[in-house]
Amino acid sequence: MPAIKFYDHEPIPMEMHKVKIVQQLTLLPADQRLQKMKEAGFNTFQLHNGDIFMDMLTDSGVNAMSDKQLAGMMTPDDAYAGSESFYRMQDKLEEIFGIKNCLPAHQGRACENILATRFVKPGNCVIMNYHFTTAKAHITRLGGHVEELVKDEGLVSHSDLPFKGDIDIDKLEACIAKEGADNVSFMRIESGTNLIGGQPVSLKSFREACAVAKKHGIISVLDASLLQDNLYFNKIREEECKDMTIREITREIADQFDIIYFSARKFGFARGGAILVRDDDLFHSMEDLVPMFEGFLTYGGMSVREIEAMTVGFDESMEMDVISQGPQFIDYTVKRLDEYGVPVITPGGGLGAHVDATEFVSHIPSEEYPAGALTCAFYLCGGIRGMERGTLSEERNPDGSERIASMELVRLALPRRVFTLSQVEYVIDRVKWVFDHRHLIGGLRFVHEPATLRFFTGRLEATSDWPEKLVEAFKADFGEDQ
Ligand code: F0G
Repeated sequence: MPAIKFYDHEPIPMEMHKVKIVQQLTLLPADQRLQKMKEAGFNTFQLHNGDIFMDMLTDSGVNAMSDKQLAGMMTPDDAYAGSESFYRMQDKLEEIFGIKNCLPAHQGRACENILATRFVKPGNCVIMNYHFTTAKAHITRLGGHVEELVKDEGLVSHSDLPFKGDIDIDKLEACIAKEGADNVSFMRIESGTNLIGGQPVSLKSFREACAVAKKHGIISVLDASLLQDNLYFNKIREEECKDMTIREITREIADQFDIIYFSARKFGFARGGAILVRDDDLFHSMEDLVPMFEGFLTYGGMSVREIEAMTVGFDESMEMDVISQGPQFIDYTVKRLDEYGVPVITPGGGLGAHVDATEFVSHIPSEEYPAGALTCAFYLCGGIRGMERGTLSEERNPDGSERIASMELVRLALPRRVFTLSQVEYVIDRVKWVFDHRHLIGGLRFVHEPATLRFFTGRLEATSDWPEKLVEAFKADFGEDQ
């Protein structure tokens, strides 16, 4: 269906679905939010969902399901071995990606665990356009290291580059020459590159990078978790894809890769994951890891109900009306904030709107986690829960010093089919207010710092009484009850 045109209104993103089931929201007053933030150790992962008005932490496992998905969940086939639900999913994945061999796993990081366990040896290198936290943690856990080869321009926050997730082919050749092809476990390309702002990868780049990998005998792996957003951008931003269907683009991308895995918490609008392996021998060499870590080969730690929902979700991910909604809402948010002067990652990508904390709160030193502090400020001034995607989400260097992230972002995720445009307007409004009062925001420091994936469970405190001062200023403008 074409984009909706208006008679007397600027074009706005349209919901191509209607709401059938709702969840009531509450907005705690600012004083109570301050209390909750302290109890959560200034870590938005530690907040209770009931204390949040706009949960924009992630798009993972919180996308709205469709009536057809729910209907599918009513007819699963429950069996430890040989579940028909699994075979239905396998057939659908083969129809879409053209690969039959399927290893189910309970979510994306479980796939990453299996891949790393199978391929990474101490000293090995894994090539990526850009890392994702869990993918990298499994590789470093096994003594491997990650080389990020995204183009330099991909890391420029304000830009009009359409495919910021593209790998730099010169860097790729140089990296393989330096590491030696035998020392490279695999090359992983993330479609819809999460940590640089959900930025897409062009079909051209997938093709070129995989050709280089193939030439050197390196296994190519597609992380398709954010593929649905990527496909939308291929279709609207890439000349070659303009007249292709979403299914054709998907198959063309898939055809480049030896292995495809995904988190179905994103791709498939449900909760699960799977690894598709083109080569039979390679597939069989990985099979035993599924029963060891996940569950039997026909459920992989997932509920059969979720498997049925995923299968319907994969089909829905092939529809432009479905996959366009997230990127269009994100684009709207990014443009409104950008117009106001709020530093955001441009062009808008998938997954969510990304605020550049390095610029937004440039007075906070990197070691005091600017993006972490700004994430807390958004909660204090609006009940909005975003996610820090910067230095706090990194792990320290072996000598204990901070590894300063190349991008210091607050992600305001837009889970698919969940929020309405008025809710998005509320978020834009509150972010503008915080921007105008940014000088009131200070830093954070750890009081409990786990060694791995510290952003999930770490506890922090403010370096001064800035949260109290910020809340006072907020109440002066909005009153006691907002
Ligand atoms: N790959 C990408 C690109 C992801 O964004 C994620 C998860 C994973 C793999 C891991 O999948 O969560 O199912 O284990 N991203 C979530 C997020 C956590 O909030 O961005 P998972």
